[in-house]
Amino acid sequence: MKDVDDTLKQYIIYNIFPRYDRYYSHGMLHVEKVIDDMLMLADYYDLDKNMAYTIASYHDAGLNVDREHHELESGKLLGNDARLGEFFDKAQIKIMKEAVEDHRGSRKTRPRNFYGECVSDADRDFDIALLAKRQLATSLKNYPDLRTFDEHFERCYQYLLRRINSAGNFNLWTNNPILVERRNQFQKDFLNEALARTIYQAEWNRISSNGTKEKILNYYEDY
Ligand SMILES: [Fe+2]
Ligand SMILES: [Fe+2]
Repeated sequence: MKDVDDTLKQYIIYNIFPRYDRYYSHGMLHVEKVIDDMLMLADYYDLDKNMAYTIASYHDAGLNVDREHHELESGKLLGNDARLGEFFDKAQIKIMKEAVEDHRGSRKTRPRNFYGECVSDADRDFDIALLAKRQLATSLKNYPDLRTFDEHFERCYQYLLRRINSAGNFNLWTNNPILVERRNQFQKDFLNEALARTIYQAEWNRISSNGTKEKILNYYEDY
């Protein structure tokens, strides 16, 4: 991360990252992964690293304002953040705001700019273990009527299968070769339902025995 301006980084670490404290699936566990992938893409396409870091850092920061439209709230937060004016010009801030607004995976139309394509792709989970963590937490929180592991797993699995596009793939806007390779491996593993179930079961056992499940239900504010 040596290409990101240190003062900018410090500002974001102390002023934006705390907004994720009460989030699990959308907390730093996730944001750090999005930052990593976003910087990888910035490196690959020779994009502005400060912009890439800022976009990834703010992309879900609007969750505690309005979770249904968090991408718009995150965009507002970025667009109205006067401190960013010290690091970026108006045109760069507009690009970053649009990128954040366009990041959601459920979006059917192409993001308005390439940074938006990158953050949307960086937002995808192509690591089953991390996906299991995030999805099970979300499921526990949003579907309190589901009781058993099997019920939660079934819901998570079906939900994700619906994200497969008409070409039979999990969507990527950039088609970046590094992400495509990761996606293809992920698809192979995930579509092997028995394998996916084993990984989800291990995560379920872990959070059930170490207190994380209670913390997800009672402390974290994810949806
Ligand atoms: Fe998001
Ligand atoms: Fe996200």
